Amino acid sequence: MTSQEIQNLKQEFTTELEAVTTADQLRDLEIAYLGRKQGKVTNLLRGLKDVSVEDRKTLGPLLQQLKSDIETAIRARQESLEPRTYNLEPRVDVTLPGKKFPMGHYSPLTTMRRSVEEVFRSMGFMVVDGPELESEYFNFDALNIPQWHPAREMWDTFYVSDSAHRIPNYKLPITNNRLLLRTHTSAMQVRIMRQFPLPLRAIVPGTVYRNEATDARHEKAFMNVEGLVVAEGISLQHLISVSRLFLKKVLAEDVEVRFRPGYFPFTEPSLELDISCLICKQKGCAVCKKTGWLEFMGAGMVHPNVLKAGGIDPKKYTGFAFGFGLDRLVMLKYGIDDVRLFRSQDLRFIEQF
Ligand code: PHE
Repeated sequence: MTSQEIQNLKQEFTTELEAVTTADQLRDLEIAYLGRKQGKVTNLLRGLKDVSVEDRKTLGPLLQQLKSDIETAIRARQESLEPRTYNLEPRVDVTLPGKKFPMGHYSPLTTMRRSVEEVFRSMGFMVVDGPELESEYFNFDALNIPQWHPAREMWDTFYVSDSAHRIPNYKLPITNNRLLLRTHTSAMQVRIMRQFPLPLRAIVPGTVYRNEATDARHEKAFMNVEGLVVAEGISLQHLISVSRLFLKKVLAEDVEVRFRPGYFPFTEPSLELDISCLICKQKGCAVCKKTGWLEFMGAGMVHPNVLKAGGIDPKKYTGFAFGFGLDRLVMLKYGIDDVRLFRSQDLRFIEQF
């Protein structure tokens, strides 16, 4: 080993360093010269032990100097390859106006259903869901409407022809175990009585179906809300005050309510509830046909036969029930004159809410 060799090595390194353009190449270069196993400088340093004491005195410091020069040069090059400055120029201009995405919103039926649920919850009612594909038994027979009863005419519906679709969990006579699209949420009355303990306070919002010729006031499918209260000592007065309170809360404080006698096979006595026309404030308009009143819901005291079907002793307990169309309620609130708009999928209608 001579000082010339060390000099040459330094020259070689300087040339190679100049050719380096990437951090990877720089790392390779560092290993080639200073690597612990086969680095060129490392090898020379290792070789020092074989040279004479004389030479070692001059070559040793030279080699140490070469090593630290290489280290410094590599560090310096590293800096220039990975600059420590940060690019503060924003790549995205966050002040630009964004793209607008079309926003959906609830159907007015959903909004109304929710506010109805809220009012009834505040009065201690539970909100129950039930099947739209219902057995003939719960829709009719259990509600005191046997197969021969002319009242079935009032609720003509769609039967499911496949007799394999029978409800498995109930032991029902085969004739009234056919499946149909429920015509009213009243079909849930007996199911609720069988499922929940007394005292009972429940509402059932849900879609119901009827085989009807459609017009501005009639649809094949619409939203119904059932109410059911069963306990000891329930009277008509409870029905009257609950319906009045609920209508004031969801419609308007100044709404007037009137009851007329009605008929349903599953209530006795039965009532029809009318509400004052909010559109003309009872002055008489086309919507209320100049009467100042609008038919709103059917109601009454639960018939003893229905309580029996629900496993409840009618001598000890009484109850009231009511049912109204949610669509009708939304129509009254916003002055909508055609029920078919709700399911028309017409955005010009739905976007107004
Ligand atoms: N289910 C009846 C209808 O659809 C309304 C009703 C419900 C009447 C509960 C009395 C009691 O017309």
